[in-house]
Amino acid sequence: MRGDLERVLFDEPAIHRRLDDIAAQISRDYREKELTVIAVLHGSLMFVADLLRRIPLPLKLECLSVTSYHGRAQTSGEVTFRQIAIPDAVGRDVLILDDILDSGFTLGAVRETLETVKPRSIRTCVLLSKRKQRGRQIDTDYVGFEIEDEFVVGYGLDFRGRYRNLPYIGVLRKELLERPDK
Ligand code: IMP
Ligand code: MG
Repeated sequence: MRGDLERVLFDEPAIHRRLDDIAAQISRDYREKELTVIAVLHGSLMFVADLLRRIPLPLKLECLSVTSYHGRAQTSGEVTFRQIAIPDAVGRDVLILDDILDSGFTLGAVRETLETVKPRSIRTCVLLSKRKQRGRQIDTDYVGFEIEDEFVVGYGLDFRGRYRNLPYIGVLRKELLERPDK
């Protein structure tokens, strides 16, 4: 799998050091509150598991599964929720965790959906944020790393379902993005 990457952006120790910082910041901000974490699956799986174990506060974890890519490397802009039930977040302090902010459509749709159940507060946290003009403007409260507008995989992030199990994050070789799916 390493051979499919153009280069590694963040190795395991770099990711974990950054998670220590974000977890400390979140733990300070929510000291007197009880968090409800909403994880946007599947991409945020590793991020959520590693981040939450660094937050020594009482919290609840709910998961949402959404898709917008439909096998391409570009978002279709159409965000599909894979389940019908929206997590119970009435009156709660909600923190949405996602792997990466790209066009903004996913986080926008998730946030909008959660707002309908009237939480007390909503904040967003992403591991990666691409520096680019977004289809939808989104404010993030916690960002792991800012990256260029390139397609990355590993540490939960996939291309056509693969590479999620790489322990580090890297840029996928461009020619692989254009190859037909197999
Ligand atoms: P957005 O809706 O375009 O902001 O995209 C957000 C979702 O698309 C993320 O939760 C990822 O699952 C996926 N995504 C966006 N950019 C990348 C990437 O570079 N690599 C892998 N997945 C990505
Ligand atoms: Mg994905």
